[in-house]
Formats: sequence, C-alpha cells, structure tokens
Amino acid sequence: MAHGVAAPALAAILLAGAVPASAAAPPAKLEVCLACHGTNGQSQTENVPSLGGLPSQYVLTQLFMFREELRQVEPMTDLTKGWADADLQQSADFIAALPPPKPPKAPADPVRMARARALVEQSHCNVCHRPDFSGEQNVPRLADQREDYLLKALRGYKSGTRHGYEPTMAEALQPVDDAQLVELAYYLSHLR
Ligand code: HEC
Ligand code: HEC
Repeated sequence: MAHGVAAPALAAILLAGAVPASAAAPPAKLEVCLACHGTNGQSQTENVPSLGGLPSQYVLTQLFMFREELRQVEPMTDLTKGWADADLQQSADFIAALPPPKPPKAPADPVRMARARALVEQSHCNVCHRPDFSGEQNVPRLADQREDYLLKALRGYKSGTRHGYEPTMAEALQPVDDAQLVELAYYLSHLR
C-alpha cells in the first residue's frame, strides 16, 4: 500500500494513535487556518478547500505530505514547516470534527448531474469515496467540496503536478478527459 521514503515516518504517527480531540475551541495555531479555510469547515475562498468532515487520517496524511514537501503548495508547505507529529495529529482531529460543507442553494442541472453520475459509477469514484462521498480513512470526503478546488485537484492528479500518498487517483483518472473532469467537479460540488 504505502510506498517511498515517507511511508515509515507516517506509519509511526498513525500507530502512535489519536491524541484526544477537543472540538470545542481551535488550538491557537489553527485560528489562522480557519481564516483561510472558513470557520465552520466551509471555505468561502476561491481554490481553498473546505476542511469540514474530511476524515482525520486523510488530513493527517496530507499535513504530513505538506510538511515533508511531498505535496508542494503554498502556503501549506510553509505553514507546516517544523511541526511536531503531535501538532499534525491534533490538527487532523480538530479538522475532522468540523461540520461538513453544505450544498449550494441553487439547484443543480438534472441533465448534467445524471450524465456525471453515469461516469462516477463507471469510474468507481463512489466505491473508494463511499456512496455518499463522505470518504473514509485515507480517502477524502468530496461531497459539497468547492467546485473550483475539486477541478484544480483533479487536473493536478491527471497532469501529475499533484502526487497522492498512493498513486490511486492518477490511475482512476487515466481514461477520463478534461471535459469530464469539469463535469465530475460540478457533480461532486452539487450533491444533496
Ligand atoms: C492563506 C490561505 C491558507 C491558510 C492560512 C491555510 N491554508 Fe490550508 N490550504 C490552502 C490552499 C490554497 C490549499 C489547497 C492547495 C491545493 O491547491 O492543493 C490548502 C490545503 C489544505 C489541506 C488539504 C485539504 C485537502 O482537501 O486535501 C489541509 C488539510 C489544510 N490546508 C490545512 C490547513 C491548516 C491546518 C492550516 C493552518 C496551519 C491551513 N491549512 C492554513 C490555503 C490556506
Ligand atoms: C481506488 C480508490 C479510488 C478511486 C476509484 C477514486 N479515488 Fe479519488 N482519491 C482516493 C484517494 C486514496 C485519495 C487521496 C490521494 C492523495 O493522497 O492525494 C483521493 C483523492 C481525491 C480527490 C482530492 C480531494 C481533496 O480534498 O483534495 C478528488 C477530487 C478525488 N479523489 C476525486 C475522485 C473522482 C472524481 C473519482 C472517480 C473518477 C475518484 N476520486 C476515484 C481514492 C480513490
């Protein structure tokens, strides 16, 4: 499953187990995070992902990848520089307890939704990401994520500019073209 030099270090953090989460108030260093990612877990900022409802293990893995510069994107690589493993774990537990984002108010176009749904089933997106797209373990929640961020993420995997912890996404998107990525992002961001 896991591969590369990063694997043993992440495994050690995962094995150390969860530090008890306190969802009541953000740890001091997380306030800056929510200013950008949105309080209540829902981002209002272009290309910045909503964090609410992301599985703790996925968040921990991504924070680890930012810290190790395996996923290189500003400002995340800078922000996590020098973090201890316990900081990664505490942030992941806090983020996972934020409420999931809500769907847009305007109803989605039923024709686009139905067409994308067929592609989703054909590509097994709903198998790994769960039928309701809430994600689990190292697989992220996708339901009602921002459309612009989803498209950026999908294009990143497809073009190889974003490396996953595992190569799963690049493989899943191999038969999918750019026009279809646009439809997938539309579908996932409009789920009810
Ligand atoms: C100035 C804005 C900004 C701030 C502040 C910020 N982030 Fe981010 N964060 C981003 C952007 C932009 C991305 C998406 C990068 C990309 O396009 O891949 C991101 C991605 C993430 C992701 C990955 C989400 C996913 O779905 O893969 C996590 C987790 C995260 N940030 C946590 C944090 C934490 C914890 C902090 C505080 C220490 C923080 N962020 C502060 C802008 C910000
Ligand atoms: C075999 C399992 C699997 C399949 C099939 C799969 N995914 Fe994923 N997906 C993952 C994993 C694991 C990750 C996290 C990878 C990483 O570390 O970046 C992920 C990440 C993503 C992300 C990034 C989300 C974020 O918050 O940054 C998007 C978007 C996504 N998948 C969409 C899709 C779509 C659309 C499909 C169908 C075309 C699909 N996935 C099929 C396992 C899968």
